[in-house]
Amino acid sequence: MNLTTSEISYPQTEMEDNTVLWLPACHKNDVPLNGGVCVKYENEQIALFHFSRRGEWYATQNLCPHKHQMALSRGIIGTQNDEPKVACPFHKKTFSLIDGRCMNQDEDCNIRTFPVKLENDFVYIGFINNHKGNIM
Ligand code: FES
Repeated sequence: MNLTTSEISYPQTEMEDNTVLWLPACHKNDVPLNGGVCVKYENEQIALFHFSRRGEWYATQNLCPHKHQMALSRGIIGTQNDEPKVACPFHKKTFSLIDGRCMNQDEDCNIRTFPVKLENDFVYIGFINNHKGNIM
């Protein structure tokens, strides 16, 4: 399931302490238990995961850097040595949901991660505002 920010009505995006821009991504029930969805924000695709077995939420880039597939939101989440991870559905490269590093000893294949928070049953994804007009 892919969700776009235009398909759901949200509260307004807010700036919080001028450091993190919190995008209201979706209602928590829009994300399958122990699964993910793709959230589109401007030109970005973000993979948002509800790791419900652990009661945790994560967000990463949706693009798998291996063969440049927009696929990670459809990946399989699990753990390795108690570290949450997602496996790409194409060739099963795995990425830490904590810091985005590729767990297959491929340092050129790391991914971006984003902070996530829940407020009033809405899920928010955080982007760093570098104060130069760029959201990272
Ligand atoms: S495209 Fe993701 S592991 Fe190959």
